[in-house]
Amino acid sequence: MRIIKAKDYADMSRKAANIIAAQVILKPDCVLGLATGSTPIGTYKELIKGYENGDLDFSLVKTANLDEYRGLPKSNDQSYDYFMKDNLFNHININFENLNIPNGENPDAEAECARYEAVVKALGGQDLQLLGMGHNGHIGFNEPADEFVKETHCVDLQESTIQANKRFFEKVEDVPTQAYTMGINTIMQAKKILVIVSGADKAEIVKKAFFGPVTPQVPASILQMHPDVVVVVDEAAGSLI
Ligand code: GLP
Repeated sequence: MRIIKAKDYADMSRKAANIIAAQVILKPDCVLGLATGSTPIGTYKELIKGYENGDLDFSLVKTANLDEYRGLPKSNDQSYDYFMKDNLFNHININFENLNIPNGENPDAEAECARYEAVVKALGGQDLQLLGMGHNGHIGFNEPADEFVKETHCVDLQESTIQANKRFFEKVEDVPTQAYTMGINTIMQAKKILVIVSGADKAEIVKKAFFGPVTPQVPASILQMHPDVVVVVDEAAGSLI
């Protein structure tokens, strides 16, 4: 695991975007595993700049997103489908047929999770998986638990996650309580993993996840076992390491 300390959010975003850009340049038809949340927004802005200035061509890139809220229509501006279009896909030359996100509109959790797991496998896994991290160490929506869940599955969101995400909704009752998420194996099969973490409120979990014991109580700690992980933290998130 390599940890790169960036100065601030903007620096973290540029460094992360440069790593993704290198992947796209080296393998134009690569599979990018993508993440949502506030952390990657700056990274996506940098990738858009790279496309606009002619450095990056996404026409052959395929994507697989980590997760999606269950039961939220794609048209809802808080769905991850909407987020990805709004923050990245609508602004680059990506082929919309090459985009994959769990379908939160499918109420049949078992069928949807099996379908999505097969989709990621059929892509041959991710060449590069981008990850943010929740305050409790969740990756995708793999919440702290007694065991690691391997494949794409439906999760009940923890109260702390619901509380953290309520800022995006009008009222807390509107926050979905379940999500479909890639499992730990689905994430770990990526050839390379890029984790980005920003802010003093994540300093404690950064220390736990990357320097503490590997435990399903801190899902991101499993990344210590992956052979090719780069973590880019800003100064605040890296202040305890
Ligand atoms: C969300 C997403 C995660 C994300 C995390 C952190 O709930 N499911 O993929 O990494 O929480 O979000 P943020 O970057 O806004 O702190």
